[in-house]
Amino acid sequence: MANRETWATRLGFILASVGSAVGLGNIWRFPFQTATNGGAAFLLVYLVAVVVIGLPAILAEFVVGRRAEISAIGAFDKLGHPGWRAVGALGVFGGFWTLSYYSVVGGWVVRYVGASVTGGYVGNPAEYFGAISAGPEAIVLHAVFMAITVGIVAYGIEGGIEKATRLMVPSIVVILLGLAAYGATLPAATEAYDYFLSPNLGVVIDNAPSVIPAAVGQALFSLSLGFSVMITYASYIGDDQSLGVDGATIAATNTFIGVLAGLVVFPLLFAQGVSPETSGPGAVFIAVPTALADAGMLGRVIGLAFFVVVLIAALSSAISLLEVVVSYLVDTHGYERKRTAVFLGGVVFTLGLPSAWNTAWLGWFDSIAVNLLLPVSVMLLVFFVGWVMAGDAVDELRTGAADSLSDLAPVWLWALRTVVLLAVVGTVALSLFELTGAPV
Ligand code: PFF
Repeated sequence: MANRETWATRLGFILASVGSAVGLGNIWRFPFQTATNGGAAFLLVYLVAVVVIGLPAILAEFVVGRRAEISAIGAFDKLGHPGWRAVGALGVFGGFWTLSYYSVVGGWVVRYVGASVTGGYVGNPAEYFGAISAGPEAIVLHAVFMAITVGIVAYGIEGGIEKATRLMVPSIVVILLGLAAYGATLPAATEAYDYFLSPNLGVVIDNAPSVIPAAVGQALFSLSLGFSVMITYASYIGDDQSLGVDGATIAATNTFIGVLAGLVVFPLLFAQGVSPETSGPGAVFIAVPTALADAGMLGRVIGLAFFVVVLIAALSSAISLLEVVVSYLVDTHGYERKRTAVFLGGVVFTLGLPSAWNTAWLGWFDSIAVNLLLPVSVMLLVFFVGWVMAGDAVDELRTGAADSLSDLAPVWLWALRTVVLLAVVGTVALSLFELTGAPV
């Protein structure tokens, strides 16, 4: 397609991908998943999953996207394997599904930014969270968050997404570093670091059937895999870029920001004597304001900085989820971008209504996304790239890479075909057992 957009710069692509990866997954989901799955032991499995499955899989998505130069569903046709379109479609559907509840949480964040200014949550944060997280107010906030997301995507790749994330990602890092430094000054910091950073392997071994799929799911979710985002973003990259270097940079930055978020959240939780295990999806929303309540004006400023970061991170991920579906319709059906973005925003909003009405529905949508749609989609994609694209995938990974890295491309292919595929199949099996509640 002659006039298809591309990223203005290589950094623009990297930042947009990091912007997609860093989101509610790192700051909202990661702390409570860590807390309910054994603390540091979960972190350890998560880190292994990023290296063993996440990085090879992100490269698999890049290879498909850049080779095809078209968004996810059309990519399989263009690569000469129309029978695999269903994999792209599953990814697009998963992204749609995920955005519907992601936007509800995004709405809570919008509310908390406002409440940090007015002091709305000071007093009784748990009650405040209960009041705004479900019901009519949550629906309005969900609408506001979706509207902002649609607004950015409507402006396209270079004008919208690239400009927005160029500003967003550096701000996230700077503010989180500041907050982590504040966390380090709290007396509870040592206890918190111990909980977050010293793994007890016994916990992993005793709870493997639940900890492993939770950690792998979190790693894949956090890297924005499975929902065709990385396929779509890579479809706008030029042949002079090394996919390996870009993929490693993105995975490393995302992991760094996730761990940094833990270094912010856990000292705050421990400072308050809040038990991490008992905190669910409300963890960050209840614990952070509670922890800051005694800090007076300083607490207000820190609270505001924190929720602004979460909002930026949530938006830069939400736009990637919407972009997948928009670019599919724009590329394949020639629809006009702005109108498509608005229409799809409306559909996602409607799908999110149950989650906005009741947090139990939100939990259900999240578990279907992360325990089912995501690992199944990654499994099929890894199989496709490893066994169907095979030599073409190696060629594509080599394109733009320095000689020394280029030699690693066949090793990557063999890893995909064996270790990565087996690990994802194992995760899917464990996730299905978890979902159905079947005894392992
Ligand atoms: N990676 C995002 C986060 O951690 O919040 C969520 C996400 C975005 C998942 C895009 C999947 C995706 F395709």
